[in-house]
Amino acid sequence: MIADDVRRHFTKSFDGEPTLVVSAAGRVNLIGEHVDYNGGEALPIAIQRRTAVAVRLRPGAAATRINSGGTGGVLTLDHARLARKRKWTDYVAGVLDQLIGRGIDVPGLDVAVASDIPSGSGLSSSAALEVAFGFAVETLLGLHTDPVALALMCQNAERQFVGVPCGAMDQLAAACGVEGHALHMQFAPATVCAVPFTEHVLVVDTAVPRTLRGSAYEERVKECAAALVAVQRVAPTVPTLAAATMEQLAQAELPDVQRRRARHVIAECERVRQTVATLAAGHQFPGHLAVASHESLRDDYECSSPELDWVVQHAMRASGISGARLTGAGWGGCAVVFGEAGALESLAASLPADYSQAIGHRPRTWVVSADAGARIES
Ligand code: GLA
Repeated sequence: MIADDVRRHFTKSFDGEPTLVVSAAGRVNLIGEHVDYNGGEALPIAIQRRTAVAVRLRPGAAATRINSGGTGGVLTLDHARLARKRKWTDYVAGVLDQLIGRGIDVPGLDVAVASDIPSGSGLSSSAALEVAFGFAVETLLGLHTDPVALALMCQNAERQFVGVPCGAMDQLAAACGVEGHALHMQFAPATVCAVPFTEHVLVVDTAVPRTLRGSAYEERVKECAAALVAVQRVAPTVPTLAAATMEQLAQAELPDVQRRRARHVIAECERVRQTVATLAAGHQFPGHLAVASHESLRDDYECSSPELDWVVQHAMRASGISGARLTGAGWGGCAVVFGEAGALESLAASLPADYSQAIGHRPRTWVVSADAGARIES
């Protein structure tokens, strides 16, 4: 258990026991991709992969000591001089910066971190770290904010301190997850509504380095912002790109690339609404909408990869599988596959060898289901 690991790790690093151990979840998005920063809606789940944080106050100190058990040893973050260092501690420093910026007198802390969320595969290990750390500090100091506010503060940390112009989906999932439920999120303003979802989901990590990801993500954010400006010229009251209609899009006469990005956003939000209605009516996840989402991400949003397309195509040929799509930002990372539990298990067993043969390296696979978000472990 990751919570036991972090407690042991704390004791080894700092002598003595932590006061508090908390954890937050990684996530996979079921449907609703690249819509959060466009004011749309999405449907992720928190998963059983988690990041745990163990903390204790350092009375009289104005610096936080932190150890992830990696090769870096114990690192120190001076609260008076927090600066981006382009390493994993930026996620923690960013949250400290937010808390201090809100006038909260955060004392020095000893912090140990442990995680079984693979980093760099698109399961939001960074959001889980931000949320777990923010939750630990708020709990330790007796500050009672709600999970949505905690997630939005962590999103600000990532945008302002780390410098990634992300939406709020990952942090909201890490904070607000509910076991046995998908999270129907709206983003303008941010709300989360739990929808019963007890199915298993197969996650396939294509294990492809994501070098392009950061800059391409930023480019999409800018393209969507430009599309909104153009739509608002013909429909000034449209508040977000997700709120535009296909008719308004046609009237705006956008350049081809912007038009396709906007078409994805508008259609994807409609697919989220249909999925939520299907699940709320007690039916299985509508796999065909996952496939439609993937095609739209591949063709209109251009954020798929040959490996992700291979996984989706391969999965759709297996019996008992109802749908598959890329999940998260894309350009590598993970795909999700929907279907009967037995079919997912046998695909998880057979896919790696087929993938290695076709692509040349091994993927990773996990069968997951909806789990809790941020929680106190001990
Ligand atoms: C990344 C971002 C999220 C979201 C997804 C795409 O995970 O952090 O905010 O935009 O990509 O849906």
